[in-house]
Order: sequence, then C-alpha cells, then structure tokens
Amino acid sequence: MKITFYGHASLGIQINTINILVDPFITGNPKAKDIDIDNLQADFILVTHAHQDHILDVEAIAKRTGATVVSNYEIATYYGNLGIENHPMNHGGKWDFEFGTVKYVNAIHTSSFPDGSYGGQPGGFIIEGEHKNIYIAGDTALTFDMKLIPLQTPLDLAILPIGDNFTMGIDDAIMASDFIECDKILGYHFDTFGYIEIDHDEAKRKFFENNKDLMLFEIGESIEL
Ligand code: NI
Ligand code: MN
Repeated sequence: MKITFYGHASLGIQINTINILVDPFITGNPKAKDIDIDNLQADFILVTHAHQDHILDVEAIAKRTGATVVSNYEIATYYGNLGIENHPMNHGGKWDFEFGTVKYVNAIHTSSFPDGSYGGQPGGFIIEGEHKNIYIAGDTALTFDMKLIPLQTPLDLAILPIGDNFTMGIDDAIMASDFIECDKILGYHFDTFGYIEIDHDEAKRKFFENNKDLMLFEIGESIEL
C-alpha cells in the first residue's frame, strides 16, 4: 500500500493496481500548484464530507477517470445525480471493494456542500487492504468513538487532522493516537489557510515526547507500507 500526500486533506492510495483518491482539493490549493489533477489516476474517490476543501476536484476527476465516488449516502447521491458512478455508505457500515474493505466511521464535524445544502454527516474511513490497515480520520474533533477502532482493527498508520481551529490540534491528535492505539501518524489538514498554520518542529517534538512518530509530508511525498 502506497500513500501519497497531495496537500491539505488530499491523499492518493495505491493498493496493488487500484488507485484511490481521498478528498481531492488541489486546484483550489496554491500550495499544490505542482500537482496536475489531469495526471491523477483514480478508480475510486473516497469523500469524508461535503466541505469545499474536500470535494473541489471530485467532479472533474470522476468525470475524466470514470472513478466511483464512495461517501455517505447524501454525497454519493449528489454525485450520482451528476451522472457519476457512486457507492453510498453510512456510519458503521463496511463494504468489501476489489482493493480491500472500507468502513465509514464517525467524525465530529459538519458537512454542508459549498452552496449550503445538506451533505449528510461527516465521517472517516478505515481501509483494510493488502495486509495493511489505515485510518483516515477526516475532519474531526477528538472523540471517544475512536476507541472502538482498535477493538476491531489493528492500525499500521493513521492520518489525523492536526491544524486545530476546524479540527483536532496537536494535543488532541496525540490523545487520538492513544485512543486508536497507533503511534505512527501522518498529519494532515494543516498550513493550507491562516487558521490552521502550525509549528512543524513543535508538533513533531510533542509527538516524540509521547513516544509517537508524527510525519509531515511535502506535497507529492509518499510512504510505502
Ligand atoms: Ni470540513
Ligand atoms: Mn476541511
């Protein structure tokens, strides 16, 4: 399993020959100007919630690639109405896809589309694929629900928001790392806007002092699990 950071909360996940994108927000992110969405491959696009900084490039990429949008019922239906292949899910549900199992799990946040219409309830994803398990938290507060995850799924990597203001900040993300029993964390949802700028050295030091590893990637950087 290969995971690539495309800036903000945008990820690429490659499992065997299958390409998955998560929350593509690239053309609206000046920091991601070197990423060309027309070069991104996608068989599936996972969407955690309907906020613009998570869905901006979903329609264009899905229409070009024919990718299947996987999200909550409301978001999947929205893309279905645009003629896009989709797979609706809802909280607590899981499905065996050709690349592995996906479970849509709770997040504490909101989920309106850019025009204010209802985008269902926000979530995160547990992906079990290729003998590796990852948790993509989406935009979320720290929540006790995270403690349910390791009861069912041992995690190899967790991708947590760390930018504060709209989501967890560093201290809550460290606590989340305890809740999910995973010490290997890739931080996301930071630095894109003024509200979520972080001190990288301080963030890494705080994780290190708690015997955890916080990775902060450059845009385009990858990890192989
Ligand atoms: Ni959001
Ligand atoms: Mn967001």
